[in-house]
Amino acid sequence: MMNVLLVGSGGREHALGWKLSQSKELSQLYIAPGNPGTAQVGTNVDLKDNDIAGLVKFAQEKDIGLVVVGPEDPLAMGLVDALTAVGIKAFGPTAAAAAIEADKAFAKKMMNAGSIPTAEGRVFEKYGDAKAYIASRDAAVVIKAAGLAKGKGVFVCNDPADGILAAEKVMVERIFGDAGERIIVEEKLVGQEASILAFVDGHNIYVMESSQDHKPVGDGDTGPNTGGMGAYSPAPVVTDKVLSQIEREVLVPLVDCMNRNGTPYSGILYAGIMITPGGPKVLEFNARFGDPEAQPIVMRMKSDLLEVMLAVCDLRLHKVQLNWDPRPAVCVVMASGGYPDSYEKGKVITGIEEAERSSDIKVFHAGTTGKDGQILTSGGRVLGVTALGTTIADAQANAYAAVKKINFDGAYYRSDIAAKALK
Ligand code: AMP
Ligand code: GLY
Repeated sequence: MMNVLLVGSGGREHALGWKLSQSKELSQLYIAPGNPGTAQVGTNVDLKDNDIAGLVKFAQEKDIGLVVVGPEDPLAMGLVDALTAVGIKAFGPTAAAAAIEADKAFAKKMMNAGSIPTAEGRVFEKYGDAKAYIASRDAAVVIKAAGLAKGKGVFVCNDPADGILAAEKVMVERIFGDAGERIIVEEKLVGQEASILAFVDGHNIYVMESSQDHKPVGDGDTGPNTGGMGAYSPAPVVTDKVLSQIEREVLVPLVDCMNRNGTPYSGILYAGIMITPGGPKVLEFNARFGDPEAQPIVMRMKSDLLEVMLAVCDLRLHKVQLNWDPRPAVCVVMASGGYPDSYEKGKVITGIEEAERSSDIKVFHAGTTGKDGQILTSGGRVLGVTALGTTIADAQANAYAAVKKINFDGAYYRSDIAAKALK
């Protein structure tokens, strides 16, 4: 039995906390800073996810046996390194290994070293050089800030002029600050996207059930990209054959390259994949669970998540076998009207309890806050309404039926989550 500290405050953390709270290994669960959803499954702690010193001190005081780091920022800032240095077990990569997400130039270098299929790309440190290169390509290009930009640092541009404008915004106007010191210019890939998440303990890899995110804000994948407007699992586009190809051509060589580089990888390795006519290619790596992908994945996980995370930390992942609910899960994100641009906060949310009446439905909190016994909106992505069903169509119908029971002023959601899986 042990105390666990979970770091983060999104829908992903509510889903992880909900699952961890069911572990037979758990005594106390703390979530920093958490949200009103995590408060239902543990004790929220008033510490920000980037308060490295504060989190380490809290973990020491509360005799924490495992710290689970949800988001990328504390990973990139070295929270795992700081905890390990004082002898506290932490689930997640070191800062050096988290660079696989936090530094897209490093990620490209690792992919090239391992001959991992990805979009052909080049790194630029000077705007003038980037501009000349983009102009010379005369094709659609993708411009990416090299650093962390909250999922918004990628511009898919259909002609060079748009590409140059994007490069200017990132490198000259610095709309993402220092994250735009360097950019990657890469070829545009076409196909269906899928998210492949795996547990990795430095050597062993356990690939979880596949999922698919919906990044653009509007139905039919229109409008600007968001953190993710919904997800489902499994993704039929990821056949067994495609999955084993991804394991063999992407995950195994990446884990090898990280070892050879002296930056062994431990935690969750998330490969964002484009399944192109020429096979699966990597769009990006993330160093953590995806959000919203974590919500349908965790809903389908039947094994004890804490046991698996401990196996990762103790380098014995090959000894565990995970069980999955064969039923698909669909998560529909309810957002504040206006997201991903500006939106109003403080709207009263009603209907969550009613929506959750069946055990096949969970409403995960993201941007919510509690006040005077009420739940109010406090962020862009507000709730992740997640449902199991006998088929994807059934899970989709269950999720939308639950969504319809929830109300807040300006609530916005996509009406076509999981539609691609039904085509
Ligand atoms: P990333 O944060 O790198 O996953 O990029 C965000 C989104 O941009 C991805 O989910 C894709 O939809 C899109 N994207 C990124 N790279 C490419 C690429 N090379 N070709 C086409 N779309 C891309
Ligand atoms: N849903 C995409 C991500 O977590 O990066």
